Amino acid sequence: MGNAAAAARKRGLTVDFRCGSVLDAAFMEGPPVDFVYDSGLFHHLAPHRRLTYLQLLDHRLKPGAYFGLTCFAWGTGAAFTREKLVHLFRPCFDILEIEKYREGVAGTLPDSGFLWACLFRKR
Ligand SMILES: C[S@@+](CC[C@H](N)C(=O)[O-])C[C@H]1O[C@@H](n2cnc3c(N)ncnc32)[C@H](O)[C@@H]1O
Repeated sequence: MGNAAAAARKRGLTVDFRCGSVLDAAFMEGPPVDFVYDSGLFHHLAPHRRLTYLQLLDHRLKPGAYFGLTCFAWGTGAAFTREKLVHLFRPCFDILEIEKYREGVAGTLPDSGFLWACLFRKR
């Protein structure tokens, strides 16, 4: 958080940094937001905690707000199929995009085809 706070200060931004589990009740508090980006967290949640996470998104995102998600696309345990992601997120979100990361695109990791890049919009 130190590096992020320093970067925010340098740019003159006011950022509400929070440290803790996203499943803590404290994350339910705060104003509704226009955008959430989850870079590699969701696939670490135990399946029985996904509902809490989805409730958090539903509570904190404004209607029409965007949710970007990067998660594992293959392997065992923590990986998701496209169908599974649709099944999990379609009840609350319009599915705008679920695409594999493409190698060679500036800024992406090499060999990153094991990741989904998703964009959803809350209904
Ligand atoms: C694969 S790392 C991704 C790190 C970074 N966001 C990135 O994209 O490089 C997964 C991160 O999720 C965090 N994480 C896992 N469960 C969490 C939870 N319940 N609440 C908050 N963070 C969690 C871990 O601490 C870890 O930093």
